[in-house]
Amino acid sequence: MKYDFDTVYDRHHTNSAKYDSGHTDDPDMIPMWVADMDFKTLPDIPEALSKRVSDGIYGYSTIPEEYLESVVGWMKRRHDFHVEKDWIVPTPGVVTAFHLAVEAYTKKEESVLVLTPVYYPFYRAIKNNGRRMVRMPLDLKDNQYTLDYKAFETKIIEENVKMMIFCNPHNPVGKVWTKEELKTIGDICKKHNVFVVSDEIHMDFVYAPHKHIAFYEVDPEYKNFSIVLTAASKTFNLAALQTSAAIIADEKLRNQFKKVKMSHSISDPTILGFIATTVAYTKGDEWVNQLLDYIKGNMDYLDHFLKTECPGISLIDPQGLYLAWVDMRTLGMSNEEQEDFMLHKAHLWLDEGYVFGEEGSGFERFNLACPRSTLEKACLQLKKALDEKSA
Ligand SMILES: Cc1ncc(COP(=O)(O)O)c(C=O)c1O
Repeated sequence: MKYDFDTVYDRHHTNSAKYDSGHTDDPDMIPMWVADMDFKTLPDIPEALSKRVSDGIYGYSTIPEEYLESVVGWMKRRHDFHVEKDWIVPTPGVVTAFHLAVEAYTKKEESVLVLTPVYYPFYRAIKNNGRRMVRMPLDLKDNQYTLDYKAFETKIIEENVKMMIFCNPHNPVGKVWTKEELKTIGDICKKHNVFVVSDEIHMDFVYAPHKHIAFYEVDPEYKNFSIVLTAASKTFNLAALQTSAAIIADEKLRNQFKKVKMSHSISDPTILGFIATTVAYTKGDEWVNQLLDYIKGNMDYLDHFLKTECPGISLIDPQGLYLAWVDMRTLGMSNEEQEDFMLHKAHLWLDEGYVFGEEGSGFERFNLACPRSTLEKACLQLKKALDEKSA
């Protein structure tokens, strides 16, 4: 069966954060910011949800066994990632999960490290929990991001780092960490007792020849000082159903996490989220394969467009994510000027690079989980704005 990713849906007036939370007075505005997709999900999901909704009884629910089995199955099949059912602690979102992890595994004022630029709620989790932020900038060379391991280790020692919140694939820069890189990072963390929270929510968006390696699969010992967070919400566009999984192999670490979860009375996801995830993880393989091809096509389209039409602006090597990290530093604009240019000249609502940390200044993050025709329109609007600027 061929799935449809080409149809454009009008998402305005649907309480969509992406479409309805700003700039609604500009008919030309194309929202390409927050990471949700403009595609309808796997058709089996609304079918299963409708069936459950038509029951008309929505009493308190338990965690379905099939949900746990579906997570185990997907991780094994798609990622060669061995998970056991009891390792899974359901959480109502990965952002909630890493907030809980910071509280569970560090103490007030202890240092937590992030590799920057990075998904901005990481900063919030550290700040909201009263921990010290330690930023370790990634290096950008030849269109690829790398980590200076020596500087990383020195920073861990000098700043007395107790935890790292890690992102793989790395939002926003699109890096997929190799097994060797993960081993180097993991061994440094192990040596200096740095707890690793590995946010792998984008694990399904990886483009060949790159491969997602779960942090747990690098070395069995890593289970003693790390947890893995993931969800079907990015992959299947289910963010509003707020269902995610903290995968915690070590029983003591799992209990520590559960205790904090309970202390804040954080509930499990809803039955609708469990059903959607179960269907996604049992019936969604082919849909995801086609989705990946489509988004890779969008990445290639943007890359070609920038190379041929927008000299000086370049796409950072997209190894993973449906988010494109675009280097616009040659425009030489301040953060405010660039944001204003994108919003009011190009009519593109993007995530500005600087929100991911100061190293992101001059970059823009484009969400390419959209029909090709939307991307084509966005590219033309960008080109027109650039031409007018240089005229
Ligand atoms: C790295 C990363 N973690 C977590 C999330 C959000 O997770 P959730 O919606 O499950 O809280 C996102 C969303 O863009 C993300 O990019």
